[in-house]
Amino acid sequence: MIIAVDGPTASGKGTLARQLAEHFGLPVLDTGLLYRAVGYQTQLNHGDADKADDALAACDFPAALLDDPALRYETTGGLASRVSVHPAVRAALFQRQVDFANQPGGAVLDGRDIGTVIAPLADAKIFVTASAEERARRRHAEMRARGVDVTYDVVLADIHARDARDTGRADAPLVRAADAMLLDNSDMTREAALAAAIAFVEQRRADRS
Ligand code: C5P
Repeated sequence: MIIAVDGPTASGKGTLARQLAEHFGLPVLDTGLLYRAVGYQTQLNHGDADKADDALAACDFPAALLDDPALRYETTGGLASRVSVHPAVRAALFQRQVDFANQPGGAVLDGRDIGTVIAPLADAKIFVTASAEERARRRHAEMRARGVDVTYDVVLADIHARDARDTGRADAPLVRAADAMLLDNSDMTREAALAAAIAFVEQRRADRS
């Protein structure tokens, strides 16, 4: 069984994907981490994330980079969103994600284009979202708890910029697949969102058997 979880930045899709993977006993891939590694490696190479050649050269990053805590930084997320615009970068990361999705037994993947490009035949697709203000509020609280000195307005502006880049790019833009469940968790607890997602996956599984 393949479960595709897509959505904008700070929507809670990563948490939901991990919880679904645990619930259904499936391996999980955070595909954003691959783009983050490319963005960070571009910087390590002193390249320019907006230049396709520089970003493509960073696609053969060492595997150990995926464990580097620097990939979680906000600045790395910004670099990831810039390198992910280049079709050559998306093509370079494509097969790795397709192979993960199609492994025996199935998998859960979260990202921006899982249900549309990487696994268009996924058994269950979920598009997780929340208002930009709610996502900014959560991201701001989480950053402040980590001791990062940042204002809510700066976080909100960054979320708007990331949304615009992710939805506006020509190649594999962030968009809800026609057959994806829309899960707007603006006014939901994590538990309620997980319960709704599990119910949807169970339903899809029953429909297909
Ligand atoms: O999900 P995360 O915030 O870690 O992703 C970082 C960036 O990588 C996103 O803003 C998006 O531009 C890009 N990305 C993508 N396709 C994916 C996953 C992430 O373009 N499947």
